[in-house]
Amino acid sequence: MKVLRLWCAFVAVLLLCAACAAQETAPVPSWDATQCNAPPLDSLIAEVSARPEPKKRVLVTGAAGFIGSHVAEVCATRLGFHVVAVDDLSGGFMRNVPSKTTFVKVDLQVLSAVEQLFAEHGPFDYVYHLAAYAAEGLSHFIRGFNYRNNLQATVQLINQAVMGGVKCFVFTSSIASFGSPKFLPMIEETPQHPEDPYGIAKLAAELDLKAAKEMFGMDFVVFRPHNVYGPRQNIADKFRNAIGIFMNQVLHDLPMTIFGDGKQTRGFSYIDDVAPVISVAPEVPKARNQAFFVGTDGQTSVYDLSILVARAMEVPHRVQLLDKA
Ligand SMILES: NC(=O)c1ccc[n+]([C@@H]2O[C@H](COP(=O)([O-])OP(=O)(O)OC[C@H]3O[C@@H](n4cnc5c(N)ncnc54)[C@H](O)[C@@H]3O)[C@@H](O)[C@H]2O)c1
Repeated sequence: MKVLRLWCAFVAVLLLCAACAAQETAPVPSWDATQCNAPPLDSLIAEVSARPEPKKRVLVTGAAGFIGSHVAEVCATRLGFHVVAVDDLSGGFMRNVPSKTTFVKVDLQVLSAVEQLFAEHGPFDYVYHLAAYAAEGLSHFIRGFNYRNNLQATVQLINQAVMGGVKCFVFTSSIASFGSPKFLPMIEETPQHPEDPYGIAKLAAELDLKAAKEMFGMDFVVFRPHNVYGPRQNIADKFRNAIGIFMNQVLHDLPMTIFGDGKQTRGFSYIDDVAPVISVAPEVPKARNQAFFVGTDGQTSVYDLSILVARAMEVPHRVQLLDKA
């Protein structure tokens, strides 16, 4: 009888949990943007660069890539940091590396090379980790490489940062760490249920940073940019974002390909609205140990985007609508 009662209680709890899950409500923002009294970004950057304290030493990974090169540039030229710029040039280009930085070619998957980097160029106050192979759709087909390059290498870097006394680790995660959320628009508090290896690796790295903060006290700031565009963007990789793909197709005199009717909307953010925010973040105490979306609130349909790209590149608007996979 006792066993039966226990079993009934167990089933009741299960049913209650299932009912709660079915009624998952929209997440509530933990802060009110209208109450934000942060100073304008430019004055914050000017204030940081004018501080009399010794120059910060920072490591920027992925510095030959798109966002990393802009972060390295803002850190070196606007914030006055001493920047060690790292990249393995697998997806980036030397021409992107800002001149006022010390460039070191390192494959972050190689532990001994990362150890040597810290031994020879550290200690660092901050690490900005932007290196990754960021091809979300392709990540299903390069699972091992995705986890080695985007997760294992990140964890290795976090270890070195902890051991090297880094004060804040800035990491670019992704909207891919959310999967297909039940409620839109997504906010920082939206539950994360990634659906592909790229998003899973990003979420795991976010969680590892939280664990490292709990265990070793190293601060972090996580950013989740989305569809960033601008100079130095890699437009040759057909697995990357829509603007680059469209530009590449126009340059090859091809129609711009759109899955479905193109009415699906996305937010597209210009690099100058993103890189300075990432760069200055560790200098803002309230930003520490938080995760942020960074980019526009605006929405553009993919079809309208193709019109804008054609207009900007001064070519006739030509699209090919493809069936959704
Ligand atoms: N561009 C976007 O819209 C966007 C959106 C969300 C998240 N992100 C994230 O922001 C970061 C930067 O993205 P991006 O668009 O500048 O990409 P990018 O490809 O232009 O830059 C990434 C750089 O990392 C380097 N790299 C890759 N693996 C490396 C390794 N093992 N060792 C050393 N260097 C390595 C590449 O050579 C490349 O230069 C990535 O972490 C990406 O996941 C970007």
